[in-house]
Amino acid sequence: MIDIHAHILPFIDDGAVSWEEAVEMCNMAYDDGIRAIVATPHIMDGLYPNKKNDIVKKVEELRERIEVPLSILWGADVRVSADLVSRIKAGTIPTINDKNYLLLELPFDRVPPNFETLIFDLQMNGITPVLTHPERCLWIKGNLKPILSRFIELGIIIQMNAGSLTGAFGKEVKAMAFEMVRSGLVHVVASDCHSTKDRPPVLSSAMTILESMIGINYKKLVYDNPGKIIEGLPIN
Ligand SMILES: [Fe+2]
Repeated sequence: MIDIHAHILPFIDDGAVSWEEAVEMCNMAYDDGIRAIVATPHIMDGLYPNKKNDIVKKVEELRERIEVPLSILWGADVRVSADLVSRIKAGTIPTINDKNYLLLELPFDRVPPNFETLIFDLQMNGITPVLTHPERCLWIKGNLKPILSRFIELGIIIQMNAGSLTGAFGKEVKAMAFEMVRSGLVHVVASDCHSTKDRPPVLSSAMTILESMIGINYKKLVYDNPGKIIEGLPIN
């Protein structure tokens, strides 16, 4: 499996708290059947002002430290803000594996103003946004299908968290996640792991649930589509 969303780098956000935990998270991911993982620390104005150079350095150090044949790539979990395009062009915000996909996080309470303009600007600059865990945004709940269908129509790729399917974020989020899978409103499932314990780098439990729901099509969500994302290839 391929995990495109993981907070495995230490001392950079609210993910791994030490190099030891970072290495252990890589071991866990490998044991779970993950063979490539994208290190995606938060980039959020004010709270996590991370830059691509620092992320790349930490990925290179983690590659040196691990002992399992896990491919570690770089990216970032980027909070929506108005100047993303210029920061990507300036090289301070990394896309996933330096290809054309960008992991993009919405605020938990609303769609920001000018969201569709931002999406259009990104696309005009060759960037395809991958929206992280919309099932955790409970304001979507009452209008799940129209909102996500609109996002998909705009060309946005939808990433769900594995923990949403297993119930790690509560019943409401789980119900939304199931509805999204049944309605075909998700392109990729990722761990969004933050630690070895509370939010671990594990996809297999979600994979089992997906297989019971949609049969062989589960492979698209944990192998095929994330594989295309890290290679920069089109989905669908
Ligand atoms: Fe994240």
